[in-house]
Amino acid sequence: MRSPLEARRDAGQQEPRPWKARAVTELTAARSRLLRMLEGLPEDALTRQHSPLMSPIVWDVAHMANYEEQWLLRALGAPAFTDPAFDALYDAFRHPRASRVQLPLLSPEQALAYASRVRQASLEWMQQLPEDAPAPLLRGGFVFGMVAQHEQQHLETLAATLQLMTSHEYRPAALPRPRPARAAQYEVFLSGGPVLLGSDAPWAYDNERPAHTVHVQDFLLDSHPVTNGDFVVFVESGGYEDSRWWDPKGFEWIQAQGIRHPLFWLPQEGGAWLRQRFGWVEPLPRDEPVQHVCWYEADAYARWAGKRLPTEAEWEKAAAGSDGRPRVHPWGDAPGDASHANLGGDTWGPSPVGSYPAGQSADGVWGLLGDVWEWTSSTFDGYLGFKSFPYREYSEVFFGTEYRVLKGGAWASAPVAVRNSFRNWDYPIRRQIFAGFRCARDAR
Ligand SMILES: [Fe+2]
Repeated sequence: MRSPLEARRDAGQQEPRPWKARAVTELTAARSRLLRMLEGLPEDALTRQHSPLMSPIVWDVAHMANYEEQWLLRALGAPAFTDPAFDALYDAFRHPRASRVQLPLLSPEQALAYASRVRQASLEWMQQLPEDAPAPLLRGGFVFGMVAQHEQQHLETLAATLQLMTSHEYRPAALPRPRPARAAQYEVFLSGGPVLLGSDAPWAYDNERPAHTVHVQDFLLDSHPVTNGDFVVFVESGGYEDSRWWDPKGFEWIQAQGIRHPLFWLPQEGGAWLRQRFGWVEPLPRDEPVQHVCWYEADAYARWAGKRLPTEAEWEKAAAGSDGRPRVHPWGDAPGDASHANLGGDTWGPSPVGSYPAGQSADGVWGLLGDVWEWTSSTFDGYLGFKSFPYREYSEVFFGTEYRVLKGGAWASAPVAVRNSFRNWDYPIRRQIFAGFRCARDAR
């Protein structure tokens, strides 16, 4: 029998898509999403600080352009054409988000013009590059994939900024979400054994490399993420007041912050719940995955339910399928579409659980990709053999016990930045991100 690694390599070899065509498609998709998101927002909404947790939107726009200029032009030998001071101004490590509003930033009009000038130049420069360049940055078009993913990741961050915005009403045109086909929660048994973690695909990030095999024990995993309806029961039964369920640090933190329910839930007289989603205030939809919960809230719910959060390896095992034939996505290696998962940002919210039968895993686990990021119990670290590439600040500086790994992507994540092996990470107190969770337990 082939090892999971051999099976994945064989699968990877079946898709020799020219990277330039993919790069144009993905960079163009990211830019048109940016323009859709900004449509109708007045200048003041783009320049002000909506939350100390987030940058002014106009900083993100120029930062994306500057990142592209650094990596797709200067790093590839193209002549520089902007003020080198931009590198410092738009360096995420030099300026904490809360202070960026005080910087001498480009105006929205200037930032968008800069972004479009860089884009035009980088696509032109790309045409001169060989499709089969051996340089690590260009192998398989890596650096173009990195920039496309970077832009889409910032657009997800921008969606979080817009969700936090209170100064302007934001009600973008939202694509309809499907109706659920199978919403009842059940547990899926996943047999222990080897699982291939990570990826060596051309556009995989350094933190996904190298692909390697680890072993997991038999375990049970929820078929669907925990829903708002499930979570209401935890809230209403006093889950936030009972320290038994909480990591001590988390309990101390929610007490100090006065947190009694997920972010953006609005308790009403008489026990009803509303939730705020961008410019909409609506009855809390019980059948959607809960989102805007931090790791501590997810962990507490899981304990209250007599379960636990899955490890990253268990989550990836469930996504790959337990039949020894690992997949890039739960449904297979081919890219999905709107029938497989809620991705790309245009629905502006999660779909009810059980809405994507085509997207379920080989073992019948639903909704692993899209809708909400899923917290795992794992801390974020490099795999054995990790090599920082192409810069330490993408992943390596975050390794350690401070961060928890999230898997699967949210409705606001783009398909280019979502796959079974993709690793996201954040502090266990983060709630503005589009994160939920599902539960697991040991099989006994
Ligand atoms: Fe960035």
